[in-house]
Amino acid sequence: MEFDAVLQRRTIRLFQQKMVPDDEIRYLINAACLASCGANRQPLRYRVIRRPELVKAFFEHTRYAALVHPRRTPQWGISAPPVFIAVCAKNPSAVDAGAAIQSMEMAAWNHGIGCCWIGSFDPAEVNALLRADDLPVRYLVAVGYPAEGPVVERIGADGSPAYYLDDSDTLHVPKYSVDAVTTYWD
Ligand SMILES: Cc1cc2nc3c(=O)[nH]c(=O)nc-3n(C[C@H](O)[C@H](O)[C@H](O)COP(=O)(O)O)c2cc1C
Repeated sequence: MEFDAVLQRRTIRLFQQKMVPDDEIRYLINAACLASCGANRQPLRYRVIRRPELVKAFFEHTRYAALVHPRRTPQWGISAPPVFIAVCAKNPSAVDAGAAIQSMEMAAWNHGIGCCWIGSFDPAEVNALLRADDLPVRYLVAVGYPAEGPVVERIGADGSPAYYLDDSDTLHVPKYSVDAVTTYWD
């Protein structure tokens, strides 16, 4: 099952209007805590935003799926995420965030929960909301139960990686095949 998430996980941007229980949020953050990390320094800290007024305030400063705008931009009260996890670190080069967020996404998918990793947000507004100047937000992760079912599609080296919506409003996410991106240096 764990491996299924690696192969099947997709970014989710439309969410059911249903809260994610605290023990599930802890399960996701525990996965992040156990991720690979340079020199095992563990510089990341997590802020859980789940109070609806605060979630709404965060939501207003986040941006989604520019390539299919506005059809995968969630709407408040209809398809917005019920929770954000802010991934915070002092050092802007904290690439460890990538490993941690990936682990969160996998853990979430295993429990039927979807995530959207968000790098496109207004940092001044978001940091002001958290009053966290000493530990800035590097990424946000929107978390919730999926209300969409994106599908992967495999492409060759000359294929376009641009995701798109089909006539039935399904998001297609092209991913290069192994052959398209691999050479053997024997
Ligand atoms: C560093 C990073 C930043 C991202 N920022 C955003 C974002 O601001 N908004 C958004 O809708 N998706 C964002 N995404 C999600 C990507 O668009 C998504 O991973 C990509 O389209 C591939 O889809 P998949 O995750 O289903 O494989 C981000 C992903 C990464 C890794």
